[in-house]
Amino acid sequence: MSTAVAHEHGQAAGDQPALLQLVDVGKSYGNVHALRGVSLHVRQGEVTCVLGDNGAGKSTLIKIMAGLHKHTDGVMTIGGQETVFGSPREAQAAGIATVYQHLALAPLMSVWRNFFLGNEITRGFGTMDIASMKRIADEELRKMGIEIGDLDRPVGGLSGGQRQCIAIARAIYFGAKVIILDEPTAALGVKQSGVVLKYIIKARDAGLGVIFITHNPHHAFLVGNHFVILKLGRVVLDAHRDELTLDELTGQMAGGQELEELSHELRSADPGKVVDAHTVEHGEIEAPTLDHPAVKP
Ligand SMILES: Nc1ncnc2c1ncn2[C@@H]1O[C@H](COP(=O)(O)OP(=O)(O)OP(=O)(O)O)[C@@H](O)[C@H]1O
Ligand SMILES: [Mg+2]
Repeated sequence: MSTAVAHEHGQAAGDQPALLQLVDVGKSYGNVHALRGVSLHVRQGEVTCVLGDNGAGKSTLIKIMAGLHKHTDGVMTIGGQETVFGSPREAQAAGIATVYQHLALAPLMSVWRNFFLGNEITRGFGTMDIASMKRIADEELRKMGIEIGDLDRPVGGLSGGQRQCIAIARAIYFGAKVIILDEPTAALGVKQSGVVLKYIIKARDAGLGVIFITHNPHHAFLVGNHFVILKLGRVVLDAHRDELTLDELTGQMAGGQELEELSHELRSADPGKVVDAHTVEHGEIEAPTLDHPAVKP
């Protein structure tokens, strides 16, 4: 297993050149260092998973690549060219599509309208070519094996998983080179998560460089070629799939030592014990061994 240093500048022999590369990127918000010394390679036809706990810097990293924020240190290159995006539109024009968990699509608009949002097909005098847009949206979603049924349905009535899939299909159709998925499975159940993971693989097979942001090492390990763990804004693990196991990834995510301490603390709270409601008096509920304030009505 290697650290960030092993993959620093450039690429190993035989690897593909990076579509997008960060070298020692940092981002400060005033005196808060959200990211420090982050290096990352995103390659065509690979899924790069970025994992990290709350506050690790995952969203900050996405915002830099998506053109929402500018990095304050280091270098980002796109296709070998040093780049600082001035706006999300510039990032999109460079082939970087970002699918945010909650803002993936406009809920009141229909499926086909969402598919073409911002890229509408028009005929003369700016009138929208609705028939063509419906036909293409239908073809593209079918091609991906996404079953929506009536494309006039508002997207708000679809499941979270279906929405993510439409956003992925749209990015592929409009020629994105890199797709960034911000915790696409975080709010989904097992089955829907599986569907989204399947489309992550489809995006990879379509030749995109996929950046999959997640808290979940199990989801990451099902689809990832490469794994980067952020902790308090720094890269604490940067490893290829061949270099680690799911157990190691899970252990690194949990922060081995911290998990050990937590499990010790929880063991002393007698897990498995069932508390009889009759033995608890009103106002008596406390969490004696954990670090949370006791709950008192
Ligand atoms: N606009 C901002 N101004 C000041 N500090 C910020 C800003 N955005 C993020 N931060 C800080 O930067 C750090 C990283 O935040 P970030 O949102 O990138 O983490 P995250 O990994 O996405 O967390 P989560 O899993 O909770 O979404 C945090 O300490 C956060 O408080
Ligand atoms: Mg976040």
